[in-house]
Amino acid sequence: MANAWFETVAIAQARAKKRLPKSVYGALIAGSEKGLSMRSNTESFDVLEFAPHVAGLSPSRDLATSVMGLDLAMPVIISPTGVQAVHPDGELAIARAATNRGIAMGLSSFASKSVEVIAAANDKTLFQMYWSGDRDTQLQRLERAKNAGAKGIILTLDWSFSNGRDWGSPWIPEKINLKAAFKLAPEVLARPRWLWSFARTGRLPDLTAPNMAPPGGKAPTFFGAYYEWMQTPPPSWEDVAWLRSQWNGPFMVKGVSRVDDAKRVVDLGATALSVSNHGGNNLDGTPAPIRALPAIVDAVGDKIDVVMDGGVRRGSDVVKALAVGAKAVMIGRAYLWGLAANGQAGVENVLDVIRGGMDSTLLALGKSSVRDLSRSDVVAPPDFYRKLGA
Ligand SMILES: Cc1cc2nc3c(=O)[nH]c(=O)nc-3n(C[C@H](O)[C@H](O)[C@H](O)COP(=O)(O)O)c2cc1C
Repeated sequence: MANAWFETVAIAQARAKKRLPKSVYGALIAGSEKGLSMRSNTESFDVLEFAPHVAGLSPSRDLATSVMGLDLAMPVIISPTGVQAVHPDGELAIARAATNRGIAMGLSSFASKSVEVIAAANDKTLFQMYWSGDRDTQLQRLERAKNAGAKGIILTLDWSFSNGRDWGSPWIPEKINLKAAFKLAPEVLARPRWLWSFARTGRLPDLTAPNMAPPGGKAPTFFGAYYEWMQTPPPSWEDVAWLRSQWNGPFMVKGVSRVDDAKRVVDLGATALSVSNHGGNNLDGTPAPIRALPAIVDAVGDKIDVVMDGGVRRGSDVVKALAVGAKAVMIGRAYLWGLAANGQAGVENVLDVIRGGMDSTLLALGKSSVRDLSRSDVVAPPDFYRKLGA
């Protein structure tokens, strides 16, 4: 491509669509059921409006913040995504880009690269876990993350194993063997640049989850790891408190929508929570996090770092989230589109686009720092906000 740089995340997504095999692109779109929550996540940002000033603006803007005791050059964190086969460098490209832009890296336990490799590339790595396997297995994973140098844990709790989509789910093989290769051949051959990017490394995507391997053992397949998780009884609040007590450091609970759950997360001693509906991939019909955020901030924002994720595609979205009370946002698909479009440089490009958008929005709002934002900087339509639970 003559000029690989892109000026918005939407352009990166369009390039990702052209470049990726249909199934891989479909896996990144994800969503669940009717796609209500997935759509609402982005559309809810669209209906929040700004209240800008025209003079007396600040000549410089400070974007730096700290979350879970980690200094961040801007209030953006890489949200963990368990996806495979997007790019041969996968999460390593993302971790390096995050390092170069001074932000933290959330690494999924379903990622294609190991926590050892990622924590060596990003010294603000947060290892993400689900409640999967027995307590001993989970302790081994915590121990491994600690030894690798992970700085914190993200425990993601919003998952209920829904598996239907009105637009159909992509077919993902258990393994790339000859049979799978034949089945995938038409869509892969239509995307020669993607195929070439893997062929150059001499390896095809192996679709394994190295962070779910038993000590000294072989990495399970993605589906093998998913099966373990499905077979694990869902955690009680005591289980969550137990896991938190086993990690001596920053600990985030991700996937909170309700005020009462947020209070329990504070009570069990977490350092942070993310208001999130898993990017609209879990229980469809759950409100967009940007709508549920303010009630949670009002209830626990002085006791814990409250971040949000879901639907962030622009720097102005980040500013909206901060104005209604988030300390930072986490991004998912935005960086995945950048990775697919142009590898590590594409992820850096996305982070630069978001940073630039934040800076110009702060300028328009007359702010010299992200810390100066408040709810009066945005206008919400009547009945915009949602208070779930009490
Ligand atoms: C393809 C895909 C895979 C994901 N995998 C995980 C995962 O393994 N662990 C996790 O905590 N969240 C996972 N998520 C959710 C993201 O961390 C995040 O909550 C979501 O993507 C935010 O919404 P956004 O994509 O609109 O930014 C995944 C999301 C997508 C799109």
